[in-house]
Amino acid sequence: MGRRIKEAMPDFLELGEAMKLTREQNRENHRQFINPELVNMMALLNFDKCFVRAEGTSVWDDEGNEYLDFLGGYGALNLGHNHPEIIAAVESVKSPNLLQAALNPLAGALARDLALFMPGKLQYSFFGNSGAEAVEGALKLARAYSGKMKIISCEGAFHGKSFGALSVTGREKYRKPFAPLLSVVEFVPYGDSGALEKSLAKKDVSAFIVEPIQGEGGVIVPPEGYLKKVRDICTEHNALLIVDEIQTGFGRTGKLFACEHEGVVPDIMCISKSFGGGVMPLAAYTAIEKVWKRAYGSMEKATLHTSTFGGNSRAAAAGIATLEIIYREDLSHQAAEKGEYLLERLRQLQQKYPFLQEVRGRGLMIGLEFSQPKQEGLFNKLTGGVVGKLADEYLGAMIAGELLNKHQIITAYTLNNPNVIRLEPPLTVSYEELDKLLVALDEICAKNKGVGDMVISSSKTILASLVKKHNRVNPNVL
Ligand SMILES: Cc1ncc(COP(=O)(O)O)c(C=O)c1O
Repeated sequence: MGRRIKEAMPDFLELGEAMKLTREQNRENHRQFINPELVNMMALLNFDKCFVRAEGTSVWDDEGNEYLDFLGGYGALNLGHNHPEIIAAVESVKSPNLLQAALNPLAGALARDLALFMPGKLQYSFFGNSGAEAVEGALKLARAYSGKMKIISCEGAFHGKSFGALSVTGREKYRKPFAPLLSVVEFVPYGDSGALEKSLAKKDVSAFIVEPIQGEGGVIVPPEGYLKKVRDICTEHNALLIVDEIQTGFGRTGKLFACEHEGVVPDIMCISKSFGGGVMPLAAYTAIEKVWKRAYGSMEKATLHTSTFGGNSRAAAAGIATLEIIYREDLSHQAAEKGEYLLERLRQLQQKYPFLQEVRGRGLMIGLEFSQPKQEGLFNKLTGGVVGKLADEYLGAMIAGELLNKHQIITAYTLNNPNVIRLEPPLTVSYEELDKLLVALDEICAKNKGVGDMVISSSKTILASLVKKHNRVNPNVL
């Protein structure tokens, strides 16, 4: 006879109950069992809403309010929320989801399809579950291939937060508490092919890892021709080129993969985020034959790098369906056209408002950099400089707060540059939705027109509460 868990453990939350939690109950679970300081931080900016439904670009909170999602899961929602075809694909799988003592046909099919989609002769894929995992695998592959120790990465780069991936991530704040990381990593300025060439001169480098556009670094587009030069330099110095397309991939920048803007084919490519259609965690690195075969091409090496969930059937089904939809709907082209439309209008706003310091990006991967208020503002003086200090770290968050709380538009700042708001809506976003964002930004900037020395007026409440809680909340948690 079945036993009811509630009788033995009255506090156990069954799935039905978990789906109906109030905002306060949800906060409390996170406070007690996940990350109390994160709850405090989210609450400061009113970012702790309870969303109960999502479809395309829209999400709805538990009070029935609709929001537009311009954050797009940090680039994981190119197809929008809960795409019905992806959910159907996942549900259609009747074969074992996990059976490592067999060759999974869906994983094989996905790898085959992927090779068709990828540029050049990228061929062998290893499937994992997160971006960091794809980067870890790529770094290991490069080392196993070449036997050389050194890896070059870029200042401001973001490749994930596991040990290897963090070792090639270029933000001190994330690295410092975990030192020493891999000691064989050297950083060069992003966009500077000359600096890379110098670093490769000793020919002791296994790989250079690079994002075609730095996402978390603040949506930094390198000078034209950079990636092409980097490709040539790596070939010349016998170092592998790893391109991290985890955020830029699957149509985001107007091409299926951003390296295609310059006709560049890496030796290893890392992908994740939108690969699983916004439903399943899915990641991969894909390598050219020569590299993969030398690293893992013998029976004793075939299991050197593995993952329990990597390439599970449901994730693979989601991946295959994602590729189909991206191709059928020509989402890369949609991203290119909508991105052009949005960038042009954002640049008009920038002309109007010096507060909006810079607009940059490609396709639907756009960054808005706001100018820091002058630290001698009245509000800053009144708070003994605390506001200025906080604005340093919170400016992007404050603007995201304005967009969320006053205009019901979800955005976020970039991890390595908190002055930058990122716009990465689903590639299926409508022009009407793009216009709503433009109207909202116009209103926010209008309030700050020509007032460089004042913290955003409508964020005073947020700042006041930040100041009050300053002793409790360490700004470094952001
Ligand atoms: C370019 C890039 N690489 C790697 C990662 C890490 O991915 P994950 O968070 O899935 O580990 C990210 C995440 O933002 C990213 O943008």
